[in-house]
Amino acid sequence: MTIDPASPVPKYSQLRELLIDWIVDSGLAVDDIIPSERELGTKYGLSRMTVRQTIDLLVSEGKLYRVPGKGTFVARPKIEMSLVLASFTEDMRARGYEPGSRDIARRITPASGHTARLLGIPPGSDVHHIERLRTADGEPMAVERTNIPTSLAPGLGSHRLSGRSLYQVLEEEFGIILDSGEQTIEAGICDPADAKLLGLSPGSPVLSMQRRSFTNGACVELALSTYRADRYQLHSRLDRHPGG
Ligand code: GLP
Repeated sequence: MTIDPASPVPKYSQLRELLIDWIVDSGLAVDDIIPSERELGTKYGLSRMTVRQTIDLLVSEGKLYRVPGKGTFVARPKIEMSLVLASFTEDMRARGYEPGSRDIARRITPASGHTARLLGIPPGSDVHHIERLRTADGEPMAVERTNIPTSLAPGLGSHRLSGRSLYQVLEEEFGIILDSGEQTIEAGICDPADAKLLGLSPGSPVLSMQRRSFTNGACVELALSTYRADRYQLHSRLDRHPGG
């Protein structure tokens, strides 16, 4: 895969996906050095500024780290925390808030290698890409970017999602009942675009979540969400198993 100059996805964002793929495919291990910004710029035909923007992002996400005078290295993976497989709508209602949703963008797009691998579909297969601003009692809480293979929900594009639950639409219109999932949650800082949507200053702390939801072993959803850390906290039930 290469950088697509015609894509609506910013180049630094495309490079992020390519680099994540490349790090996995090339079998790089924790603390391995990655090529310099100059080398990456030449390899992907990008300016050094764009490469730096991508590396800054990957560093802020904790995927890479820099050692001054030495280079950029692959960081240690973070610890995963499991929660329950609830929709935003269910989650907010359970806490006494009125959930809301506003479409930011919706399109059908070919899955990148990274997205395709996580969804378990061939790279380049069409996915519904849905970007939504989620609100609680009208207040912005999160930006959610969801990818769903079109093969699983072919006509999803024609269904209104504003003010509705995606999980409910999947269930009622497509008979898809999500039965399992996995979620990764990391600390992050808000990029300028999301900051504007969320009413935050750029660089504010956020919780970045990646969720995959499944039905009968098939991955239905890959969602990347940015939650306001100043307004959202994680709650998890803790079961005690004496003696481990
Ligand atoms: C949560 C998850 C998303 C999921 C969403 C569905 O917020 N982080 O991965 O897409 O719920 O919510 P709803 O059914 O309310 O649209």
